[in-house]
Amino acid sequence: MKIVIETNRLILRELEYTDEMDLFEMDSDPDVHLYIENNPVNSINEITKVIEMLKEQYKENGIARWAVVNKSTNECIGWAGLKYFKQPLNNHNNFYELGYRFKKKHWGKGYATESSNAILEYGFRNLNIESIFAITDPRNVNSKKVLAKLGFEYKVTFDYEGDKTDWFELKKTSWKNKK
Ligand SMILES: CC(C)(COP(=O)(O)OP(=O)(O)OC[C@H]1O[C@@H](n2cnc3c(N)ncnc32)[C@H](O)[C@@H]1OP(=O)(O)O)[C@@H](O)C(=O)NCCC(=O)NCCS
Repeated sequence: MKIVIETNRLILRELEYTDEMDLFEMDSDPDVHLYIENNPVNSINEITKVIEMLKEQYKENGIARWAVVNKSTNECIGWAGLKYFKQPLNNHNNFYELGYRFKKKHWGKGYATESSNAILEYGFRNLNIESIFAITDPRNVNSKKVLAKLGFEYKVTFDYEGDKTDWFELKKTSWKNKK
């Protein structure tokens, strides 16, 4: 069954092909891509491929990035969710990584924090994950602020395909203590 989570202002659900135009609006914006490979998309076709890949991940892992939808307007404003990493990264494998990305016009409204809190709750309670990780470009101040609000702890800066990358962890035990 497809998971649907509701928060105060948002609905979280699997991404669908009908979200293509919203994702294109987000991912063709150079500001959105400044600290994430710096390679904004140029065509809807690239977005279709991303959704295809996410649909594979839903099937394979039961979870992946989810659409974040504004309850009152029904607009898909971005995505947030847990990606399951089988392949090694920073000497870890078989772990869940929290990620989020929103249309620029929706930054600064608390949506990243609101959606991520619900995702962490789902990961720790429903999936019983012991630790959730996050990575970010050290210059990505907005993302680091979100991680700090969520209770993530900075661990180390490592080399990710030639780029300096900050590695964060949130343990279930410290998440519980924060609640
Ligand atoms: C990273 C990113 C998701 C952060 O988004 P954001 O809007 O800054 O983060 P939040 O949703 O938590 O909102 C933060 C601000 O909203 C404000 N806010 C306004 N209304 C709010 C509300 N009702 N509830 C909570 N916060 C609210 C807060 O004061 C907060 O600002 P502060 O942290 O300076 O105090 C966004 O910058 C983005 O999409 N960037 C491009 C993609 C990217 O870099 N992704 C991360 C890769 S690691």
